[in-house]
Amino acid sequence: MRPVSTSFVRSSRPAADSVVVWHARIPGVASSRPSSVPPSRSRTQLRSIRSALRTFLYRWNWNKLLRAGSAEYMPVSADWLWTRGGPAAQGEDMSSLAPHEFSPETTWLNTASYGLPAARSLAAVQRLHAEWVAGRTAPMADETVVDRIRDGFARLIDGASADHIAIGSGVAPLLAPVAAALPAGAEVLLAENEFSSVSMPFVHRQDLAVRVVPLERLADEVRPETALVAVSAVQSADGRVTDLARLRAATLAHGARLAVDITQAASWFPLRFSDADYWVCATFKWLIGARSVAFFAAAPEAADLIRPLGPGWFAAADRWAELYRPVALPATTRRFDSTPDFIGVYAALGGLDLIEEIGVEKIGAHNLALADSFRTGLVNLGYAPVQENSAIVAVPGAGEAADRLQQSGIIASARNGGLRFSFHLYNDETDVERALTAMGENRASV
Ligand SMILES: Cc1ncc(COP(=O)(O)O)c(C=O)c1O
Repeated sequence: MRPVSTSFVRSSRPAADSVVVWHARIPGVASSRPSSVPPSRSRTQLRSIRSALRTFLYRWNWNKLLRAGSAEYMPVSADWLWTRGGPAAQGEDMSSLAPHEFSPETTWLNTASYGLPAARSLAAVQRLHAEWVAGRTAPMADETVVDRIRDGFARLIDGASADHIAIGSGVAPLLAPVAAALPAGAEVLLAENEFSSVSMPFVHRQDLAVRVVPLERLADEVRPETALVAVSAVQSADGRVTDLARLRAATLAHGARLAVDITQAASWFPLRFSDADYWVCATFKWLIGARSVAFFAAAPEAADLIRPLGPGWFAAADRWAELYRPVALPATTRRFDSTPDFIGVYAALGGLDLIEEIGVEKIGAHNLALADSFRTGLVNLGYAPVQENSAIVAVPGAGEAADRLQQSGIIASARNGGLRFSFHLYNDETDVERALTAMGENRASV
């Protein structure tokens, strides 16, 4: 059990003098960064109780999900609840989960756009570059590193294994075989305001019947003629969460296939492999990986319904034996591989390793606690954020404040007219405080 502490736990943010260095170095960022004033003890205690409840509910939902689909069961222990979320662990849920790995000089609430790299990822990439510059190795000398990230990614989806995973460079091209396999005129169901890498592979085939409905109606709108539903587990624009279990039940009832983008969900959101036929995920956001590395996942029966569109040597069953005599593709989903950027693979491996060390469950509870605390603060300031149990907090209509916030060192994104904040494992309660201060100032200035 961790030592009892009732004082506010400060994360390892840069020391005051390094903040001054930051002001000098980043042009256009004003020097009025709010200081991290610890919240009062009673406020902190209230937060702790709320956090404990939230953590309990998160874990309860998680267990429900696992029990619904498999024999696995993780009992909730009172000790766990107390030590993870109770006053004994004061501040723990709200502190950075990996202070030694991250030292941002801004309040980075922008993981939904791009995650921050961990120190270990940067070190791995630097080591690789040094070896390469010296002519001692080529970046792709060690192919086992790809096996390792394939394994690591599979472990993020309950029920998946490395044989179900293909590596690629982006979500849209990984969805292309799914779109290409549909017969002309097939109905594809999409959610309104879906991220375009999910919708465009289907829309731009031009001979499919694409139907767009509000996200909350998606499951109800699946009908016998629906061939495929494509959706993000967590919406990029505003963080709304798809009820995958309900959607899966609807697609199974009508014989439709389901493709799910987990780019905004993987690492903090519980995922069950049987909940979709096809999965896609970019690693550069919540997996704190690389822009050049993305994954596709499918079980054999779903993979057998589609075919690789442009398999190269990296997808071959025996890569080096088939370099000049391409014969066989593997029976596993690896046949959808395209040759990866190995520098990105090293970066992605660092991110996946760190996420696995901390654990999806813990990251989920942490992210949701921060987001919830921020949402409550926004409401108190008179804003109307999207009410969702999500690590992404969106404030509809406030998008134009993004530049003003950036001047105060708060990095968020303007998306679809709204202002989007995202909370990940490196964020802490001081980030929430700073963003709320800036949002309060923004309110006063308009
Ligand atoms: C939900 C979602 N999917 C995918 C992507 C990335 O797509 P791609 O890899 O095609 O650039 C993003 C963000 O850029 C996203 O928010």
